Amino acid sequence: MHMIFDTHAHYDDEAFDEDREELLAAMNAGGIGTIVNACAAIDGLDKTVALMEKYPFIYGAVGVHPDDADKMTDETLDRIRMLCRHEKTVAVGEIGLDYYWHKEKEEHRIQQDMFRAQMDIAREEKLPFMVHSREAAEDTLQIVREYVKDGMYGGIIHCFSYSKEIAREYLNMGLYLGIGGVVTFTNGRKLKEVVEYAPLSQLLLETDCPYLAPKPHRGKRNSSLNLPLVVAAIAELKGVSEETVIRVTEENAKKLLMKTEEK
Ligand code: NI
Repeated sequence: MHMIFDTHAHYDDEAFDEDREELLAAMNAGGIGTIVNACAAIDGLDKTVALMEKYPFIYGAVGVHPDDADKMTDETLDRIRMLCRHEKTVAVGEIGLDYYWHKEKEEHRIQQDMFRAQMDIAREEKLPFMVHSREAAEDTLQIVREYVKDGMYGGIIHCFSYSKEIAREYLNMGLYLGIGGVVTFTNGRKLKEVVEYAPLSQLLLETDCPYLAPKPHRGKRNSSLNLPLVVAAIAELKGVSEETVIRVTEENAKKLLMKTEEK
C-alpha cells in the first residue's frame, strides 16, 4: 500500500511540545508513511537528529534557514557537514534566501554566502538540496542554476511560491517542487496554475507544519495528518485519482531522497 510522504515538516518546533509523541504515534493510522524533518533554526540541528533517531519513519534534512544566516559560523557549517553523514540524513535544508523578512542589502549578502556554503556541502556530501525562497526569485534562480550546471544531486524548491515561468526553469533543471497547504487556499490561484502545469513526476507533498495548514484549517497548527486535503486539491487540478497522487509523489520522494539509504 502506498502512503503519504511528507517531504518537509518541522516537528522540532515548540508548537508540538505538548503532544509531539501522541501526534507522531497517530501518523501511520492517518496514512502518513514517511516524514522528513527539515532543520530551520541552528538549534534545530540537534532536535532533528533526536527525532530521526527516535522514530523509524522520520528522516532529516540538515541545514540552516536564511532567517538564521547571520548567526552561522564556521562551526555551524562543520556541524552540518558532519550531520550529512548520519545514515538518516536525506538532504541539506532548508537553505536559501528570504527577502520578505530581511530587506537590507547586507543581510542579502550574508544569506547568499550561507546559501552557497550549504550548497557546496550538499554537492560534496552528495545529497539533494532543499530550498526556501521568498521574495527572492531572481537571486535564488541564479544561484541554483549555477550550482546545477556544475553538478548537484537533485533538489527541491520547497513551498514553491513563484510563477509558472519560474517553475518551468526549475522543472527544466530536473528539480522537484514541494506542494503544501497553499494549493487549497482560495487565493492560491498562482500555485494552482503551477500544479496544473508541472508534471506529477516532479511534485512532492509537504506540510511545512506547524505552518500553512490547508483549508478548512487555515491559520491553525498544521500537521502531516492534513495532507489528504492537499492530495485532494492536487488530484482535482491534475484530473487524476487521489491514490495516484499519493503513489506518484511517494515514488518521487523515494527516488530523490532514499537513494542514499545504502551510504
Ligand atoms: Ni519549512
